[in-house]
This record gives sequence, structure tokens and C-alpha cells, in this order.
Amino acid sequence: MLKKVIIYLFVVVVLVACDSKTIEQKEVSNQKKSNAVVETIMNRRSIRSYKPEQIKPDELDIILECGINAPSARNIQPWSVRVVQSKEVLTKLNSDYVNYTKLQNPEFSNRVPDYDVLFGAPTFVLIAGDTTEMYAQNDCGMLAQNMLLAAESMQIGSCVLGGIIRFINSPQGKEFRDMLLLPDNHRLFIGIVFGYKDENPDAKPRDASKVKKIN
Ligand SMILES: Cc1cc2nc3c(=O)[nH]c(=O)nc-3n(C[C@H](O)[C@H](O)[C@H](O)COP(=O)(O)O)c2cc1C
Repeated sequence: MLKKVIIYLFVVVVLVACDSKTIEQKEVSNQKKSNAVVETIMNRRSIRSYKPEQIKPDELDIILECGINAPSARNIQPWSVRVVQSKEVLTKLNSDYVNYTKLQNPEFSNRVPDYDVLFGAPTFVLIAGDTTEMYAQNDCGMLAQNMLLAAESMQIGSCVLGGIIRFINSPQGKEFRDMLLLPDNHRLFIGIVFGYKDENPDAKPRDASKVKKIN
């Protein structure tokens, strides 16, 4: 009899423990679904194929407004943001970039004959920061992420671009760089293309083991 009671109690304890875990997991996944910010963060992906239509001016304004509402150290806002939407300018930038890359790596054009470093996106936003400000890169990163999430919340695709920025910062990128009229001491840190999505890629895996809770 006692044995039966012990087994019964053991089963009850295990069931209660399992159930509370399920409830916890359910709460987390319900929160993901019902919290617009969490949902936007989890849905954002780098988009590498765009429809040719330009995003609406109001949508661009919201993206820019959200960008500059990012936190920055001592609220210095050490950034310069430039928006380029001219198809002619973007086409020229791409061909300059391709020619430059071909010089560095002659195999490049054979591998990717119609390469478009901007993935056909109609809007290119460039973010530069004041190199004399210690936290400028962090601040610009926060501004960039605000823009990505604002765009995603309106179903607008985006992709952060580092490679093209290296080119624009190089001597060969001077013509384009000069057009941006950046203040002295400001250096380009990051570019982001925006446009309506023409693909819907799956999320890339994330390594949760990089996060540790220290108790
Ligand atoms: C600083 C930085 C530079 C990046 N540069 C490029 C780039 O030059 N070309 C590109 O296709 N993606 C670029 N990406 C996008 C990353 O490849 C992408 O964020 C990463 O693979 C994770 O995928 P996800 O954005 O879809 O979650 C860059 C991202 C960051 C943050």
C-alpha cells in the first residue's frame, strides 16, 4: 500500500513539474506572438532580392525618424545619415564597385556576371560617425538597428552592407563619398539597403550557447 502511495506521489510531482514547464514555454511563445516588437525582431531577415518600386516617402521618414531616436552616449548623436535613391547614382556606384572588385580579383566577374551589390534595392542609406567620439560606432549601430526594425514593422526589407562601405571609404570611392557631404571627422561605418521584399528567407541559426546567465 505504502509503495503504491509513494509511486502515486512521485507521478503527481513529475506531472506537476512537467506541466509548469509547459506553461512557462507556452507563456514565452505566446508573448512572442502577441508582442509586436518581439515579433518584428524575430521576423526581420537580411533581404537580398527587392522589387523595383521605391518605398513611400512616409515610410522612409518613419525609418529615419526611428533611426535618430536611438540612444547615443551622452546624447551626442555623433552620426550623419545620407539617403540615396537616384537610380542613376546607385547604378554607377554598383558598376564602380564591380570594376574595383574585378581589379582586386579577376575571377569575380566570371563567377557573378550581373552582380548587384545593392541587390536591386531602390533605397540606400549610409551611416557615418564622428571618429573623435569614443562611442560613435556603438551609437551608429543602434541607429541602424532601429531603422531595420522600423522597416520590418512596415513589411519593408533591409540588408546591412559592409563590403560596399569599405569600397566607398577607399581612395577609389572618393567620387561617391564626396557627394555625401560628410562633416570633417565623419567616416562611413555602415550602409543599409531598403525596399519591398522579393524573397522570404528563413532565419539563420543562432547560437544560444553564447549567452550565459551568471548567478
Ligand atoms: C556589420 C554588418 C555587415 C554586413 N555586411 C553584409 C554585406 O556586405 N553583404 C551582405 O549580403 N550581408 C551583410 N550583412 C548581413 C549579414 O550577413 C546578416 O545579418 C547575417 O547573415 C544574419 O542574417 P539575418 O540578418 O537574416 O538574420 C552584414 C551585417 C552586418 C551586421
